[in-house]
Amino acid sequence: MKHLLNITDYSKEDLQELIDKALYIISSPFAYSHSCEGRKLATLFFEPSTRTRLSFEAAMLELGGRVISVTGPGGSSVTKGETLADTARTVSCYADVIAVRHPLAGSARAMANSSAIPIINAGDGGHYHPTQTLADILTIYREKGSLGGLRIGICGDLLYGRTVHSLIDAMSRYEGNSFVLISPKELTVPAYYTEKLQEAGIPFVQTNSLDEALPEIDMLYMTRIQRERFDDPAEYDRLAGSYILDAARMKAASKDCIVLHPLPRVDEISTDFDSDPRAVYFTQAFNGKIMREALILKLLAGKDHPDNTDISPEGEKLFTDDSLACTNSKCVCTHERGLRKEFYTDKHGVVRCAYCDQPVRE
Ligand code: CP
Repeated sequence: MKHLLNITDYSKEDLQELIDKALYIISSPFAYSHSCEGRKLATLFFEPSTRTRLSFEAAMLELGGRVISVTGPGGSSVTKGETLADTARTVSCYADVIAVRHPLAGSARAMANSSAIPIINAGDGGHYHPTQTLADILTIYREKGSLGGLRIGICGDLLYGRTVHSLIDAMSRYEGNSFVLISPKELTVPAYYTEKLQEAGIPFVQTNSLDEALPEIDMLYMTRIQRERFDDPAEYDRLAGSYILDAARMKAASKDCIVLHPLPRVDEISTDFDSDPRAVYFTQAFNGKIMREALILKLLAGKDHPDNTDISPEGEKLFTDDSLACTNSKCVCTHERGLRKEFYTDKHGVVRCAYCDQPVRE
C-alpha cells in the first residue's frame, strides 16, 4: 500500500516481511546505512512525542537519509488556517515520505488524499497508531517467538487508547489469540472493536479487575489514562490512577508474562518493576526504531504500491454522499475545510465515516 494509515493496510505477510527485515537490521546494523541517501523524511508532529518522532528521525538517519521537521501545534502554517490537505501537497514538494501526528481522528487520511508521497500515520487522535503496533508486534515476536496462541491482557484507557485499537486490529488476525480487556467501565474499548471480535469469533472478556486477569494472561499491555483526550478534567481526575502495576502485584502473573507499554507512563507501572525481566517496555521503544527503519525501506521501495486512500480499514470501498454527515467533534472532517467527506458501509450494513470510523447519521 502507498500509505500506512491503519495497521490493517498491511496483511500478515506484509507484517512478517517487516519483522524479518527488522530482525536482519538488528543482526546487521549497517546493512542499510546508505539505502536512503538522497531521500528525505518529513516529520509533522502537531502533538507532543518523544519516541515516535525521534525514532522515526533516528531510523531515517541510520538509513543514510535526511529529516525535515515540524513540531508543536504552532510550528507550521496550519496555525494560520492552512488545511492539512494543502500542507501535505506542499510538503510533498520537499520530502519523499511524511510521518504525521495530529490530535484529530482521520488526519493522516485527510493528508493522504492530497499527498503525492507516502503518508505514515504516527497517531491520529484517539483513533489509530499503526507504527506503535509495529513496535509492539516485533517485541511480542522476539519475546514469545510467535504472534499467535496468546492470551492478551490490555489494561487502562481502552476508549481513547489509539495504540490499543491498532494492537487489537493486528493481534486479532493471528490464530489462537484471545483478549482480556481490563478498564474502568467509563473507558471500555469502543463497541466497534467488541463487535469486530465477536464477528470474527475471537474469545474476549471485559473486566475492571487487573488482579483477577493477571494469573491467566501471557502478556499484559498497560496503557496510560490519557488526560489530553478528556473533555471533562474532573472525569480524568476521577479515573487517573485506576491501575498501578508494581512488583508485588506482578507476583500473581506467570513468570513468562511479559509487560508492554507504549510509553510514556505516568504512574500506571511502578519503577520497582523495571528491573524485572518481564518488563520489556524499553526494549519495545528500541524495537520501534528498527521497525520504522523497515517501514521506511518498504514505503520508499514501493513505487508500484497501490493507492489505499479509497478503502476503509477493513477494505470496504469508500463513497461520497452529500446527505450524510459525521458529527464526531474529534474527527478531522468536522474541522478541515474543503475535505471530501467519505463513507463506507461496514459488514453489518452500518454506514461509517471513512476518517474516524464512527457511525454517521442521514
Ligand atoms: N508511544 C508513543 O507514541 O510515544 P510518544 O508519544 O512519545 O511518541
